[in-house]
Amino acid sequence: MLETIQASSLDAIEAYKLLTGVIVPRPIAWVSTLSAHGVSNLAPFSYFTGVSNKPPMVGINIGHERGMRKDTGTNILQTKEFVVNIAQWSQLEVLHASAERHPAEVSEIELLGLATTPSVHIKPPRIAQAPVQMECRLHQMIPFGDAGSEFYVGEVIAFHFREDVIDMTKLRVDSVALEPICRLGGPFYAGLGEKVKMAPRG
Ligand SMILES: Cc1cc2nc3c(=O)[nH]c(=O)nc-3n(C[C@H](O)[C@H](O)[C@H](O)COP(=O)(O)O)c2cc1C
Repeated sequence: MLETIQASSLDAIEAYKLLTGVIVPRPIAWVSTLSAHGVSNLAPFSYFTGVSNKPPMVGINIGHERGMRKDTGTNILQTKEFVVNIAQWSQLEVLHASAERHPAEVSEIELLGLATTPSVHIKPPRIAQAPVQMECRLHQMIPFGDAGSEFYVGEVIAFHFREDVIDMTKLRVDSVALEPICRLGGPFYAGLGEKVKMAPRG
């Protein structure tokens, strides 16, 4: 037996619950930005995907909250710059804590005592302990629907990898060494689990 739900019967929160339960596991972009006044900001976003290979582009979907744009979205629109950090499993607690809502003048980076490294090409700082950090320039923001969903596409200007997660001769990322955090529905997260190798196809 299948349960069927007509999408037209759903409000935004109900649809969010279904989508985030179904689109699993999701990777997490841990996004650091700077406000126009120079306040640093950090928050996790799991509506996150690759968009283009040449030039490399990534996309994150940032929703509005109580009708207001989130600080990350405001900062990206004002400065056109952001860093997508990829956290490792041992950073789960601090990553989760960085999602807490704070006024724009509060820096989650300072509040959580996270060490940063200056970016090479852009102003927002990188999270020093994150094994991957991608410096991005806003390419385009595309609004979708009527509940404030905004898809931010950024061109990756520079990739930074912790030494042990990349083989520089083959440009191969070791996703096991990366130990990424996966987001499931509701309050759940997961680690990588079993890795299986298959012959290339297509
Ligand atoms: C693991 C995780 C993933 C999240 N993914 C998203 C997302 O994809 N889009 C979104 O709008 N909010 C997402 N959130 C909620 C934001 O992180 C949260 O609203 C945060 O306070 C935004 O911070 P800001 O106002 O400083 O930008 C996520 C939260 C967690 C814990």
